[in-house]
Amino acid sequence: MGSSQSNSSIDALQLASVGVRFGGISALSDVSFTIPAGQLCGLIGANGAGKTTLFDVISGIRTPNSGTIHLHGKEITRWSPHKRARAGLRRTFQRVQVFSWLSIEENLLAASEWKGGGGGVIADLVAAPSRARYERQRREKADQVLEQCGLSDIRSRSAAGLPIGTARLVELGRALMDDPSVLLLDEPASGLDSAESERFGDLVQQVVDEHDTAVLLVEHDVGFVMERCHRVVVLNLGQVLADGSPQEVRDDPLVLDAYLGARP
Ligand SMILES: Nc1ncnc2c1ncn2[C@@H]1O[C@H](COP(=O)(O)OP(=O)(O)OP(=O)(O)O)[C@@H](O)[C@H]1O
Ligand SMILES: [Mg+2]
Repeated sequence: MGSSQSNSSIDALQLASVGVRFGGISALSDVSFTIPAGQLCGLIGANGAGKTTLFDVISGIRTPNSGTIHLHGKEITRWSPHKRARAGLRRTFQRVQVFSWLSIEENLLAASEWKGGGGGVIADLVAAPSRARYERQRREKADQVLEQCGLSDIRSRSAAGLPIGTARLVELGRALMDDPSVLLLDEPASGLDSAESERFGDLVQQVVDEHDTAVLLVEHDVGFVMERCHRVVVLNLGQVLADGSPQEVRDDPLVLDAYLGARP
């Protein structure tokens, strides 16, 4: 618990009074919490609690009606998803998203994009050596991520029709290509059997420990969350119902009534 937390005083992710409305319905209301670097934070709540909506707001797919979001101390509330990704924020999706027409390896390579590599626009235009160096580094990084995710042996396989466990690893691999400092995982263990889920959890923990990544993880498998996460935030009807250690959350009568009690 907390052993891998950063000494940095600036939180990796900070949400302040975030609110989202769909027509007359309030999907999120006054949601505030922060995640420091190196923390694996679980986000739980019943169906429709607002978890995916919160991910959409953090990743920039949806602009909140109120509140602010800071990434490493910088306000990003109105930044595009692309700009947020370049600043270190990555996510995976509840419904797994891979490019089915590409191989597993190509999926990873497509996730990581040319950032100028120090050569700037001119170097980019004339395909200067910095670009070639970048391509080489990108392939090396893909090798490393494929290895880390246990995908090396099947790297050339088409991503079409992959078993869900493998597809989720490919999606995680894509997110890891640029060493994200904040990673959002929306039900990453959904559809996995217990061995796959165990392995996925180990992998996420490894990422957090080795790269000091701040991870926000949505998961319906409460056992997975309680066992793996340093901290748990509970959403209920779009509001934060509880925020604390797995033990504190598990013992919170409000949570037992509203959520855990309904999901034995
Ligand atoms: N595009 C949308 N338009 C209108 N209402 C929406 C939209 N997206 C989500 N909602 C509503 O907002 C609320 C929160 O939905 P959300 O998908 O964020 O919940 P969730 O916690 O991710 O649920 P689940 O566990 O089922 O994935 C729900 O009442 C949902 O019906
Ligand atoms: Mg959802």
